[in-house]
Amino acid sequence: VIFSDSNEASIKVAEEMADLIQKKQEAGKKCVLGLATGSSPIRVYEELVRMHKEEGLSFKNVVTFNLDEYLPMEKDNRQSYWYFMHEHLFNHVDIPAENIHIPDGTIAGEKVIEYCIAYDNEIKKNGGLDFQLLGIGRTGHIGFNEPGSHYNSGTRVITLDHITRVDAAPAFLGIDHVPRKAITMGISTVMGAKRIVLLGWGQNKADIIKKTVEGPISAQVPATYLQNHKNCTFVLDTGAGSEL
Ligand code: GLP
Repeated sequence: VIFSDSNEASIKVAEEMADLIQKKQEAGKKCVLGLATGSSPIRVYEELVRMHKEEGLSFKNVVTFNLDEYLPMEKDNRQSYWYFMHEHLFNHVDIPAENIHIPDGTIAGEKVIEYCIAYDNEIKKNGGLDFQLLGIGRTGHIGFNEPGSHYNSGTRVITLDHITRVDAAPAFLGIDHVPRKAITMGISTVMGAKRIVLLGWGQNKADIIKKTVEGPISAQVPATYLQNHKNCTFVLDTGAGSEL
């Protein structure tokens, strides 16, 4: 779906998420959301916060799993995805702290593998993801599933692509400060979501959006795996959709 502007598009996506949260609430069920960081979802989170404050949308039944976190990364570091999520969403809504899951960037050594398996198990224990929000990186990554990511991959440690580190450099005040690794939900974890919405804004995403939507499904552009998902929508603005 191509919108003339990303603001209007973000509001539509927030409305879909709010409807799902409310429906689940009315049915007495939890709503399991997979959440993304980056600049693309910021306006969606802003709108969800507005709905909480002005329309009484409650997040008491919401359980969240974030896609990824840099490794190593302390929670209170301003560049952490933990910090990002609290700043843009969690600090402003009534979600119980124990319902929030964000990969822990302080896990080190042998424990990482166990930690990643436990992260996927926790998603399964919660009945899987009802809704997954995604952005897309210029390498075609979703979460931090960089080129080469296998279709069957679960949550794991990944080495970041050079392009990804270049794109992150301004936030870290130089590429030398950008971590080389991250923990990311895997492709199979993401593909297990019952509903997926990918956000793409601006001309600089046009090329990767074209490859993702119209190109062959390939590990070289991991977002192309989404072509096989039965309930996935790309929500774009005219810039990101301009090459389609
Ligand atoms: C990072 C995140 C991705 C995100 C991507 C795009 O690499 N790990 O989940 O989709 O950035 O970021 P932006 O939305 O700022 O373009």
